[in-house]
Amino acid sequence: MLICPALKTIFRSGLPYCDNISRYESEPYSNENLMAVVALKDVHKSYRAGDTELRVLEGIDLVIEPGEFVAIAGPSGSGKSTICNLLALLDNPNRGSVYFNDQNVEELGDRELSLLRNHHIGIVFQGFNLVQVLTAHENVMLPMEIGNTPVDKASSEAYRLLKEVGLEGFEHQRPQQLSGGQQQRVALARALATNPRLVVADEPTANLDTKTAMQIIDLMRNLNRDHGVSFVFATHDERLLQRVSRIIRLLDGLIVEDTMQEAAS
Ligand SMILES: Nc1ncnc2c1ncn2[C@@H]1O[C@H](COP(=O)(O)OP(=O)(O)O)[C@@H](O)[C@H]1O
Ligand SMILES: [Mg+2]
Repeated sequence: MLICPALKTIFRSGLPYCDNISRYESEPYSNENLMAVVALKDVHKSYRAGDTELRVLEGIDLVIEPGEFVAIAGPSGSGKSTICNLLALLDNPNRGSVYFNDQNVEELGDRELSLLRNHHIGIVFQGFNLVQVLTAHENVMLPMEIGNTPVDKASSEAYRLLKEVGLEGFEHQRPQQLSGGQQQRVALARALATNPRLVVADEPTANLDTKTAMQIIDLMRNLNRDHGVSFVFATHDERLLQRVSRIIRLLDGLIVEDTMQEAAS
């Protein structure tokens, strides 16, 4: 079985790889030779509703390179969330393959897959999905604590990330005490907490007013640049598309446009 460099590092360490993130973090793997962060090859996805089969994706080929800032556009029901779930390794295609770090994810066991998800992929949702009983700081610490990062390190990293997303002074507020835009900033800080290669955001601005939506897209773009992490986000809001460097447009189960552009500042 082919194993991606990250997993090789952990296998070499001879440790139970899911249990030791601090060791994992102290041995960052080189991704210089890896071409794609994530790729879909001839992916088909359908859903069954009673006797009928709803064919949502009908042969999608898509490669996301390191550091890209990509929007997936298309009308409601065109399959944007379905693609986001496949890219974030939250779902499997009915046909075709998903590659992460050049590794066919079908060949991974459950533990390897959760390792990939936990350490390499950050996810941001339309509804923010913060833990309501935790403060902003505790929400950002959560993925690091799950990954066994020492508490001191997780805490200082969470403060640093919250400052980076413009929430200095709001660290100890709970989600209900924050605006929608502020909650999405917390969610972005949380998505970056494990230093992922990819952040997938499904309609991250759909619950926000236009001005706040633009601010969140600009923040995502800055984080994309500063962290060198690839961002893929779904949107049906055409106004946001001028801010991205690549637009993938879906219609009737297919990619009907894949355009690179100079993003507006
Ligand atoms: N789990 C599911 N079961 C059945 N149908 C689904 C499921 N998820 C999505 N669909 C259907 O698949 C189509 C594409 O959905 P989705 O990927 O959510 O589109 P978008 O995010 O672009 O609005 C829609 O018609 C939706 O109703
Ligand atoms: Mg959707």
